[in-house]
Amino acid sequence: MPATTQGRLLATSDIHVRHPDNRAIVEAMRPGRPDDWLLVVGDVGELYEDVEWALRLLADRFAQVVWVPGNHELWTLGRDQTSLRGEARYRRLVDLCAGLGVLTPEDPYPLWTGQGGPARIVPMFLLYDYTFRPEGTSTKQEALAAAYEAGIVCSDESVLFPDPYPTRDDWCRARVELTRRRLDACPRDVPLVLVNHFPLVREPTRILRYPVFAQWCGTELTADWHTRYNVAAVVYGHLHIPRTTWYDGVRFEEVSVGYPREWRSWPARRPVLRQILPAPTGEPVPPWGAPRDESAAAAIRSGLATDRVD
Ligand SMILES: [Fe+2]
Ligand SMILES: [Fe+2]
Repeated sequence: MPATTQGRLLATSDIHVRHPDNRAIVEAMRPGRPDDWLLVVGDVGELYEDVEWALRLLADRFAQVVWVPGNHELWTLGRDQTSLRGEARYRRLVDLCAGLGVLTPEDPYPLWTGQGGPARIVPMFLLYDYTFRPEGTSTKQEALAAAYEAGIVCSDESVLFPDPYPTRDDWCRARVELTRRRLDACPRDVPLVLVNHFPLVREPTRILRYPVFAQWCGTELTADWHTRYNVAAVVYGHLHIPRTTWYDGVRFEEVSVGYPREWRSWPARRPVLRQILPAPTGEPVPPWGAPRDESAAAAIRSGLATDRVD
């Protein structure tokens, strides 16, 4: 099927707009073509008003914005205008998006018919379940104990509430099950673009500066989704290590902007809007899993890339 528009499918994440310098980046984000879509892959900000500001601005500019929550949007902070927690907070953000015309994981999966299409866009909210455990541990309790001992503990532990689920991992398992059923029902003839704040496979977390942090970065329950389904690309954020990697022949794009102290330190920044479709050309497929982005690789080597959530 030929493309029906000249638009491209673009993506960004981890814009963390409470930082004024990141807010300036967002203010400068514009589509290159009138039909460009934008995937906003979580960690827009912590406060409801910040999320609203960014999504309203982007929804006014791009032909379509698709949002998935990061962990930061799900924080409940005393200074926020809403005290909602957990699922209720997520639903409030989904309602905000509906009012702005922004698509979310709660909508039917939209069909991309622009350049590089057709493809089904699958925004997902899956969270994490502490199964990306540090070496030498075999339970969530042991993994968490190792993190506390190392002094590397995600802020989610104190401000991301799972209500009404007993735990964040219970919430994660419910989201995975719900999403898996929807994916199973998708026709296989149109390839999927899977969009989730957290990487679907563990491999991208192997280069974290603090490996113990991986337990807050995804779930083993999605380890085969990129091969189980007909997947054109997987788009994620959260790690603040923007790069392209390939697993089992499937392209994974981390599209994070990250914190100012991170992106300022990187010798060569990737564009803050990463093209997902059409697939960028002139970029040879490397061995599976090899980092493709030299600026990210350099930052990792120098220890500048962060995995801390602050
Ligand atoms: Fe982030
Ligand atoms: Fe995150």
